[in-house]
This record gives sequence, structure tokens and C-alpha cells, in this order.
Amino acid sequence: MVNMWCFIIASVLSLVAADRDNLPPTCDSLIYCHGPLLHTVQMAGLYNDSKTFVDMKIKFSPNITLEHFRKMMERLYPMEPTKADIQEFVNQNFDPEGSEFEDWRPTDWKDNPAFLQRIKDPLLHQWASDLNRLWLELGRKMKEDVKKNQDLYSIIYVDNPVIVPGGRFREFYYWDSYWIIQGLLLSEMRSTARGMVSNFLDIVDRIGLIPNGGRIYYVMRSQPPLLIPMVQSIMEDSFDIDFLKQHIHILDKEFDFWMKNHTVEVEHDGENLVSAPTNFGPVRDLVLWHEDVGVWLDYSLESKRRRDYFYPSNVAPLWTGSYDKARTEYFVRRVINYLDKVKVDIYEGGIPTTFEHSGEQWDYPNAWPPLQYIVVTGLANTKLPEATRLAYEMATKWVRSNFEVWKQKTAMLEKYDATIFGGYGGGGEYVLQTGFGWTNGVVMALLNRYGGERYTTLFTGT
Ligand SMILES: *[C@@H]1O[C@H](CO)[C@@H](O)[C@H](O)[C@H]1NC(C)=O
Ligand SMILES: *[C@@H]1O[C@H](CO)[C@@H](O)[C@H](O)[C@H]1NC(C)=O
Ligand SMILES: *[C@@H]1O[C@H](CO)[C@@H](O)[C@H](O)[C@H]1NC(C)=O
Repeated sequence: MVNMWCFIIASVLSLVAADRDNLPPTCDSLIYCHGPLLHTVQMAGLYNDSKTFVDMKIKFSPNITLEHFRKMMERLYPMEPTKADIQEFVNQNFDPEGSEFEDWRPTDWKDNPAFLQRIKDPLLHQWASDLNRLWLELGRKMKEDVKKNQDLYSIIYVDNPVIVPGGRFREFYYWDSYWIIQGLLLSEMRSTARGMVSNFLDIVDRIGLIPNGGRIYYVMRSQPPLLIPMVQSIMEDSFDIDFLKQHIHILDKEFDFWMKNHTVEVEHDGENLVSAPTNFGPVRDLVLWHEDVGVWLDYSLESKRRRDYFYPSNVAPLWTGSYDKARTEYFVRRVINYLDKVKVDIYEGGIPTTFEHSGEQWDYPNAWPPLQYIVVTGLANTKLPEATRLAYEMATKWVRSNFEVWKQKTAMLEKYDATIFGGYGGGGEYVLQTGFGWTNGVVMALLNRYGGERYTTLFTGT
């Protein structure tokens, strides 16, 4: 099972084109997903962020709201509504974004979880303690009304309160939650962590997959599947075999979704290779590992060729463990050479997402927390001296740069700038967000892992 999800994660991180034969569930809401009302309001540009409007609750039923819209258009015809007309329509028919939540303070929060004691440096200790306190700001609990009147909201109802990323991301996000849960477990917020996992299990049961985030407009797509690793983290924290027994069929169900709906046949060197459950290791080695490059590369299903570009996810198989363990030393040596050759160490703020200067948020020079974690943990977990040393250096750089930003802004960012020590990320369709769920989880995990004496020395430069 573990090997299988490893394979899937590595594949999702690596394969560029998706299987388009089996479309996941669609969103048919004429308020939040498509149709003239949505189009008219979004094109009016009432809000700076395209997410603001679609997160608003409707005051009346969808039909009545659509009827009000139709009447407005009829009244103004043949004129188009002005921005002011549209603003008035929105004010009369929608409640502000965020009105689906009630005030909530995580009941299992404590101000001095044991992991803080591991962090020797007083400044870092204080920082970790501040990060622990940030969970209080990132908790969200839905009003009971969402359950009763789901069609008035775009948010997907879940029973348990969650920790959200922050900023415009007011709802749960799928793979973000993996790192949030790493942090919550260090903070000993076990029931919040388990509640989030239970929500996901419930969603798989209901919908068949976990959407990118907790809104109906996200149900058409998922994210790298980390539910099984989340359950694994819960199990490692408190071995509760009944919890696993009770839910393992749902893990199977999500696993089947990836296997049946997102497994692709890859033609390689004239052979057809089918990613079937028995044939895992060899398939991924054959298709993604490249002896001449010495790393796992993306494979384009469209051009049927490898894509020889740098991404941190090129080394993700070290993290997922999807390689032949008998040859660990060989793979690690090659991967370290590769990282050396592409010069990941010249960047002062972390490992960049790509070397492409597209202006998009998932490209250079942005550096994202989960990708740093995947590379650092992948290398460190091999336990080979050269790899653990490199992991340690990368972790140090990341933590120091995050701390520099914290000192300037007292904020944790969604993403950073790999090229500048203490630099902020940017680009893409929305402004930089603070909060920030996975960033906090990653830093807490790294401080926990390296928070002892040696780390302190390097960190403070004393
Ligand atoms: C997976 O594909 C099957 C058809 O093979 C389809 O019926 C089902 O709805 C898909 N599941 C999801 C969650 O998209
Ligand atoms: C929208 O963005 C502009 C320019 O960045 C800013 O001046 C304005 O205050 C923003 N408006 C809102 C409602 O956030
Ligand atoms: C909304 O309107 C549609 C089309 O007129 C109708 O089929 C549907 O039953 C209505 N739904 C409700 C909840 O009234």
C-alpha cells in the first residue's frame, strides 16, 4: 500500500498531462461555477481578487437569486448593467465572504507543546512558540447553517473545524493539509489534526475524490494525493488501530480513484507499459529515471518524451521511497551530482520551483515550502552522510531565510523568493498571501528535526 501511494504521488508530481477520459465530478452551480450571473459579476471587476465573489453566501435560494438577476437584466435591457448596478445586485443578494464561519478557538491548543523544548536557540525557540500560536488565527469552524443549507454556500460542508492556509484561502486545501498536520501533531493538537483527516475521509466517501480545496468550484480537480500519508502521520503519533480499521476501505476508495481514473499507459522505447499494481518499481524506473541525467524527470504524455528541466519534484522519489532500495547509494550519489550540476546551492533563499522566468507563481524565482520539505526529507531519510549533510544545509538556508522575513514582517508567507535571502514570493493571479498553514508546518518540522545544538550554531553564526 505504501509503495503504491509513493508511486502515485511521484507520478502526479511528475507526469505533465492528465488522463482526460474519466472526468471527475463537475460543479453545476449556476451561481458559483458557470453561467451568465457569474460571468457578469466577475467581468465587472468589483473585487481585486477573483475568489472574493465566489466565496460569498447567497441570501436567497439559487433559483430566486437567478430570478433576481434575470429581472435586473430585463429591467435594464437593452443597456448593459453598469458596475454600480452589479454592485447593488451583489449587495442585495449576497452576504460577504467568510460569513459561513463562526468564531472558533481550537480546544486542544496548548501554549507549550513539548517539541519547543528541543529548540535550543532562544530566538528560534521564541519563533517556534509564535508559530504555535498562529494556529489560533488559522482555525475555522463552519456554522451549522452550512450543513442545513448547502446550496446557499460554495463551501463544502465538513463536520470538523479545520486549520486553513490563511489569507484568501479560507477553506481547507488538500495537500497543504499534510504539512499543516505535521505542524499540528508537533503542537500536540491531535484532535484538530484527526478532525481534518476525518473530514477528508468523509469527503472521499461522499464525492469519490478530495478536491483541490473545500469549495464546490474545486471539485473538478484534486491535488497530489496525501491522504494516506496523513493517516500514516496520525498513526505514527498515536497508534490507533481501530481508527485505521474503521477507515481503511475509504483509503482504498481514494487509491482506486487514482488507479482507475488517473493511471495512464505509457509507451516507452516502443513498448507499451501499463502502470498496473504489480510492476510498480520497474515502470517508474524505466520511464522516469534517466541514467544519462542521473535523476527522475517529468514525462510528457503529449510529446511522449522526457522533459529535461529542473524541478524539485525530480527528486521526489527519494521522499516517497519509490526506487530500488538495494541501490540506494547509487541513486543518492547520482541525485547529489545532479543537484550539484544544476547548481541548486547558489540560491540564497531556498530551492526555486523551476528555472523558467514565466512570471507565474509556480515558476522561478519562487520557492515553495512543500518542495523544500520534499527535497530535504527525501535526502535526509536516506541516512547516507553526504545526503544528510546536504539536507541539513538546505534546511538551514530555508529556515534562516523564513526567519529573516519573520523578523521584517512578523508574517509567514505562502512562498518566498529563492534568489534573495529573506525575499518574498510573488507573481501569478493573486497577491502574496500570509498565514500560512504549510509554511508554518514545514518550519516547525525542520526546527524539530534540526533544532539541536549544531543547528543553532550554524543558524546564529555564533
Ligand atoms: C472514475 O471513473 C469512472 C468511470 O471509469 C466514473 O464513473 C467515476 O465517476 C470516476 N470517479 C471520479 C471520482 O471521478
Ligand atoms: C484593490 O487594489 C488597489 C490597487 O492595488 C487598492 O488600491 C485597493 O484598495 C484594492 N481594493 C480592495 C477592495 O481591496
Ligand atoms: C429551480 O428551477 C428549476 C428550473 O426552473 C427547477 O427545475 C428546480 O426544481 C428549481 N429548484 C428549486 C429548489 O426550486
